Amino acid sequence: MNLTQVLAANPKMKYIMFGGKGGLGKTTFSAAAAYHLAQQGHKVLVFSVDPQASLSDIFQKDIFGKGAVEIMPGLFAQEIDADRRVHDYQAEIKKRILERYGFEKIPDEIESYIAAAAAEPAMEESAIFDAVVDVVFTGEYDYYIYDLVPLGHALYYLSMSSIYDQWINKITELRAEMQRYDRVVSRMKSEKQSEEDEILNELQEIRRRINLSSSVFTDKEKTGFFFVLTPEEMTILDTQKAGELFSKFGVPISGYVVNRVIPEGLLKEQIPEYLRHRIESQRAPLARIEQDFAGQVVGRVPEFERDITGLEMISRVSTQLFGP
Ligand SMILES: Nc1ncnc2c1ncn2[C@@H]1O[C@H](COP(=O)(O)OP(=O)(O)OP(=O)(O)O)[C@@H](O)[C@H]1O
Ligand SMILES: [Mg+2]
Repeated sequence: MNLTQVLAANPKMKYIMFGGKGGLGKTTFSAAAAYHLAQQGHKVLVFSVDPQASLSDIFQKDIFGKGAVEIMPGLFAQEIDADRRVHDYQAEIKKRILERYGFEKIPDEIESYIAAAAAEPAMEESAIFDAVVDVVFTGEYDYYIYDLVPLGHALYYLSMSSIYDQWINKITELRAEMQRYDRVVSRMKSEKQSEEDEILNELQEIRRRINLSSSVFTDKEKTGFFFVLTPEEMTILDTQKAGELFSKFGVPISGYVVNRVIPEGLLKEQIPEYLRHRIESQRAPLARIEQDFAGQVVGRVPEFERDITGLEMISRVSTQLFGP
C-alpha cells in the first residue's frame, strides 16, 4: 500500500502525524501531505507546537503565534506559541486567586509559587497539550496534520496517561498550597471559608479532554501515525526501538516512509565518486528496511538536489509521496 491507498482505505482518518528522529523529514512530509490534500479539495490544517518555527521556514512565511494562516486555497498552517500559552495559564491562576481571596495584589509568596509551578516542564507540556486539544477539536478542517517534534518529545505528548499523572500532581500541589493560604486568609479575616471544588471540577474537565483526545490519537481509524526513516543502519535501529515504545503506549503505527533515497538510476550517469559510494552504501539498509518493515513501507522519497522550502519544492515531495 502507498500513502494514497492508506488514506483511501481509511475514510475516517482525519488526523495525520509523521514521527521519527530529529531532522529526517517530519516537517517536510507534514507540509507535503497538507499540500496534497489541499490540492484534492480538502480543507487542511498543518500545525506544530515547535518553538523552532519550522513551518514558517518551509512555507517561507512568518506564521509563528499568528493563529491559522492560509498558505494556499484550503491549506492552513499554524504554529502554536507554547510560551504564551503557559503565560496565559499562569495569568488565569492568578486571576482566580485574586477573585477568590479578594486580594488587591498577589502576595509575593504566591507569586513566586506560581512562577515556579509554571517553570515546571509538566506545566509546559500540559499547556501545549491543551493547546493541541483546542486546535484539534475545533472540527473546522477535513484533515489535521500534526507536525511533531523529534521522537522523545512526541512520545511524551502521546503518552497521555503520564501527562495526566503530572497534571494531577501539579494541581494537587496547587490545591494544598491554596488551602494553606485559605487558612492564613481565614485567620486574617477571622471568618470561615467554604471549600470550593472549582479545581476538582477543572481536573475532571481535563481528564475528560485527555481521555477524548487520547482515544482519538490511539484510534487507528481516525489517526494515521507514520514513521519517517532514512536508509542508515542507526536510524533503522532507532526506529525499531521507537516503534516498540509506541506500541507499548498503545499508539498504532500506520506505516513507514523512507526518505532521502538516492536513485540507483544515477549510477548510469556521470556522477562524482562520493555519490556512487553513497548509493552503494544505501543498498544494504534499504534491503533491510524492505525485510524488517515488510508490507509496512507506504512511501519512498528520493533525495532532492536542495532543501525543501517553498510550495514548488513541497509540491515535488508531495508527488513522490502520493503519486502524480
Ligand atoms: N528528500 C529530501 N531531499 C532534500 N532535502 C530534504 C529531504 N527531506 C528533508 N530535507 C531537508 O532536511 C532538513 C530536515 O527536514 P525536516 O525539517 O523536514 O526534518 P524534521 O524531521 O522535521 O526535523 P526536526 O526533528 O528538527 O523537526 C530540511 O532542511 C529539509 O529541507
Ligand atoms: Mg520538524
